[in-house]
Amino acid sequence: MADARNIGQTSATEAELLDLAGNVLNGGALGFLMLPREADVVIREGRGSKLISVDGREYIDFLMGSGPMLVGHCHPRVIEAVEHQMRQGTTFYFLNEPAIRLAEQMIEAVPCAEEIRYVSTGSDATFLSLRAGRAFAGRSKILKFEGGWHGTNDYAMFGTVPQHASDYPHAESDSLGVPDVLGDEVLVAPFNDAEFAEQVIDQHAGELGAVIVEPLQRVLKPEPGFLQAVRDACTRHGIVLIFDEIVTGFRLAWGGAQEAYGVVPDLACYGKAMAGGYPLAVIAGRKEVMDAFGNVSRPPQSIAWASGTFNGNPIGSTAALAAMELLSAPGVYDQLHRIGSRLRSGIEEAGRRHGLPVQALGEDMVFGVRFMENSQPKTWVDLLENDKAMGSTFAVECVKRGILIVPNEKFYISIAHTDEDVDRTLEIIDEALKVVAAG
Ligand SMILES: Cc1ncc(COP(=O)(O)O)c(C=O)c1O
Repeated sequence: MADARNIGQTSATEAELLDLAGNVLNGGALGFLMLPREADVVIREGRGSKLISVDGREYIDFLMGSGPMLVGHCHPRVIEAVEHQMRQGTTFYFLNEPAIRLAEQMIEAVPCAEEIRYVSTGSDATFLSLRAGRAFAGRSKILKFEGGWHGTNDYAMFGTVPQHASDYPHAESDSLGVPDVLGDEVLVAPFNDAEFAEQVIDQHAGELGAVIVEPLQRVLKPEPGFLQAVRDACTRHGIVLIFDEIVTGFRLAWGGAQEAYGVVPDLACYGKAMAGGYPLAVIAGRKEVMDAFGNVSRPPQSIAWASGTFNGNPIGSTAALAAMELLSAPGVYDQLHRIGSRLRSGIEEAGRRHGLPVQALGEDMVFGVRFMENSQPKTWVDLLENDKAMGSTFAVECVKRGILIVPNEKFYISIAHTDEDVDRTLEIIDEALKVVAAG
């Protein structure tokens, strides 16, 4: 038998693998990430802040798995913990100590968490937390904010990436295959408009079960008072407030956006960074609301069903515990701030040097480069001003020179990124912006 280490790894070149991917993968990609052929890559391995392609090119990675790799690729502590667990078993469906310990740890870390329920992906977490909210409140509608991304479940697809302002609180679905009738169940309001959100909540209180919000909505910071106003309106009417912390959890602060922005929801969805790079997600929240999920001792019609084969699997749980150990070390969040802030100001400065309206929007740990004059956009509609063509050219020129980013998306900073990475990145960005400026 051939060496098992060669399973799935051959001596094929990147060009050969890209051709094959085009033939065997739906859409030629793993999802929405697809670079133009001249910049496209097939990754062989990750090390800290770097990714290495099958052709041996090294990149500074600012995608970091689209967020999960907050502790960097292949951190030895995570590998050691996971290797040990792998030799004890992969998945059991039964209770296991890593899953119980992780729940204990989450409850200590996350302000709203009195109990947690495991799921496997962020989309599961948002979909099922909405179900719990509706079950708890006994009302079926939900409110979300325009431009918020809560994964690809049917409810999440309304008012997600519209090309103009929605007819609030009505919004179209941005995906084919989503039943039109759900459009009556999903209300949509502009992010950061506290007065409008309160109005919609007050007006629809009798039919609203849950409000879901990304506290840092993609690259838009919440305006002072916005999250608190939504919190207060939900409290007034017994509506369940859900923070989608899939991006912000353990990233903006140890206690996530709840800690960073000082507003505590009823439920929070966690995924990405919490699990050290493994597919595991969590719904955390107040006992009273979490009780909607119930357990098997209750009649099936009296619970909000939430079950999944891989929920609380020991490998993901172990990786999460190892990642949290690393993130709880003193100075971690200061370092993330420092590195991200150097990068953001360096990028904006480079934009000015080249006469380009470049904004590095968001928080230091996660931000997006946008080509627009408005340096303080507040809503999704404000972000439509971004010149996407410039964003694409910029990203492609960066990738060609050794920085991995996705056009018009986000930079994720990790604890593995160094000052040398920032220096090199800023040199490359300067060259990329020169190309953008030349048109
Ligand atoms: C804020 C937010 N919520 C939910 C999701 C969905 O998570 P997943 O891709 O794990 O289903 C994402 C994914 O990017 C996200 O950014």
